[in-house]
Amino acid sequence: MTDKILIAGNWKMFPTTLVDAKKILQAIKKTTTTLKYTEAIICAPTLFLTELSRTVSGKKLSLGAQNVFFEREGAYTGEISPVMLRSIKIKTAIIGHSERRAMGESDDEVGAKVAASLREGLNVILCVGETVRDHDGTYTRTISNQLKSALARAQRPQAARIAIAYEPVWAIGKDAERPATPEDVLEISILIKKVLADAYGQQIAEKIPILYGGSVDHTNARGFLAGGNVKGLLVGRASLSPRSFGQILSIADEIEGEKRKKK
Ligand code: PGA
Repeated sequence: MTDKILIAGNWKMFPTTLVDAKKILQAIKKTTTTLKYTEAIICAPTLFLTELSRTVSGKKLSLGAQNVFFEREGAYTGEISPVMLRSIKIKTAIIGHSERRAMGESDDEVGAKVAASLREGLNVILCVGETVRDHDGTYTRTISNQLKSALARAQRPQAARIAIAYEPVWAIGKDAERPATPEDVLEISILIKKVLADAYGQQIAEKIPILYGGSVDHTNARGFLAGGNVKGLLVGRASLSPRSFGQILSIADEIEGEKRKKK
């Protein structure tokens, strides 16, 4: 998808006006100008994407959708197709976010959306994550099952357009129990790599970025990026604050710069 660090912002159903959305995006854009090793994607409400795309240009900042339907066109009231997103130059969509799963989106629908999006040329940020961390380790099975069914219809050559966001549901949103720890994230990133390697082979799996999401902000981003074995972050609330999001971007850039120097 990218060899840079990917910091995606999920604006969810915020802000309520286009005027505010433009202001926030303009301010975020300013924080991206110095980035060397990091790329930002803002997944804004679909309705605003056409207008917001006037603000973005170049590779450091782009826009994405938060959801997409699995058919090209048809009698599907209220849905937006991957082809429609492509027609307004949107390249990326989040699929399978836990908030959509909680509204009834099934593993099968997630799989259909991933397959359709890849077929139509979109990049996919596929979200997986357990609702609770039980002590007998069932959560690891939940995650590998989510991954397997979401990717069941994805073709091997398309894997280069996939990123996996690990988002434990208990760590998301203002009512989260707590953010995950970098150790929690490390454990699951190893699991995800294994499932991907079984599906696509080691070489391709290595190239699929894993992101962490769930209560990420400028105070904890460093820990995840340095110790979670992830290539990026999916940021909810903090992506609506250009200050916090900008700080996350520069932390990511700094850590990646240091890592590349050591290589
Ligand atoms: P949060 O949301 O950062 O506000 O916890 C993350 C997400 O739902 O993607």
